[in-house]
Amino acid sequence: MTTNPSTTTVTDPADPAPTAPAPLDTRIFEAAVASLEVLSIHLGRRLGLYGHVAAPGGVTADELATVAGIVPRYAVEWLEQQAVAGFVSVDDPEAAASTRRFRLSDEQRAAFVEPDDPAHVAPVADMVAGIGSVLDELAEAYRRGTGVPYARFGQHLRHGQGGINRPTYRASLRDWLDATGVGKRIATNGSGVRIADVGCGQGWSTIALARAYPDAKVIGFDADGASIDEARLHAAAAGVDVTFQALPAAAIAEHGPFDVIVVLETLHDLAHPIDALVACRSALRRGGAVVIADEMVADHFTAPGDETERFMYGFSVLHCLPASLAQEGSAALGTVLRASTVHRIAAAASFNRCEQIDVPAGFFRIYELTP
Ligand SMILES: C[S@@+](CC[C@H](N)C(=O)[O-])C[C@H]1O[C@@H](n2cnc3c(N)ncnc32)[C@H](O)[C@@H]1O
Repeated sequence: MTTNPSTTTVTDPADPAPTAPAPLDTRIFEAAVASLEVLSIHLGRRLGLYGHVAAPGGVTADELATVAGIVPRYAVEWLEQQAVAGFVSVDDPEAAASTRRFRLSDEQRAAFVEPDDPAHVAPVADMVAGIGSVLDELAEAYRRGTGVPYARFGQHLRHGQGGINRPTYRASLRDWLDATGVGKRIATNGSGVRIADVGCGQGWSTIALARAYPDAKVIGFDADGASIDEARLHAAAAGVDVTFQALPAAAIAEHGPFDVIVVLETLHDLAHPIDALVACRSALRRGGAVVIADEMVADHFTAPGDETERFMYGFSVLHCLPASLAQEGSAALGTVLRASTVHRIAAAASFNRCEQIDVPAGFFRIYELTP
């Protein structure tokens, strides 16, 4: 996810010193409200409700029930709950329940139904729902020291993961690469450039790369077969000529040479990150580089932490760490991939240089690794 949230610390404009956080019982209550609302967003997305509320003229509850194929009583309650939460707008709250008309403002439309809008954050709700579907397995893994394979988190986590990064890759991936040494080189190279996208997931970054470098050959790799199947469908629907391979990162060694290998929000998920980077290094063309985007976390553990740190640790304990531990001999990096760890892994994979690139990238820090 790449939109950097505001922090929870409240500041008074007249006094820049942060005020004390809310009492713990208040914070937990607010978290419960937020959790319920996030799951209600997932439900709305799963049932396609937001698209109908976004229709010109909006909808009444009966109209929503008819077009979405849900039961009217549920349509009333979901619309009221969404309006109370400020997720949808209601023309006249005083009107009778049967005639109340609901619609989306521009801001709500961007968040819920415009997949390429930078403010389209609703897919994170699908990720949370995917995590919720494996809580029993997570508890068992914690007891046994095993993991929960990525595939077990299911389609909702997959789609949420793809959807949350899609707008940023479309808008910013080229800018990130232009800020790197290798990006400047390939910008003028035209045809013959080969780019690999390791851990491409739903393929949105691969598609963005193909659009940004129309003369290049772009190949996406991911160990998860379901992700690759969906990535192929996305590329076909977008009319973009890319290739996808359902293969683990280590297999890239047999598919080079590449001018650039991008590893986007994936390094921390790799059970064997050093082996993967060794394979990437061997697949680089002379003058090539590996470009990594991974989490913009603090340099050191601090507690309590800011909202970014809390967000990343939340995903780590519930998803990334158990997914990584599902593989034998995992490095068990977890989501909170500190810059020092990236530098250590790069050195262990025999990269001579690992440079942090000074380019705005929201939740991500960009690294360029050269042999
Ligand atoms: C957090 S997701 C990121 C996906 C995509 N890059 C994005 O930003 O939306 C991590 C991805 O790494 C993939 N992955 C995990 N281990 C892998 C491996 N050994 N080789 C290739 N892909 C792997 C997962 O299947 C998943 O799609």
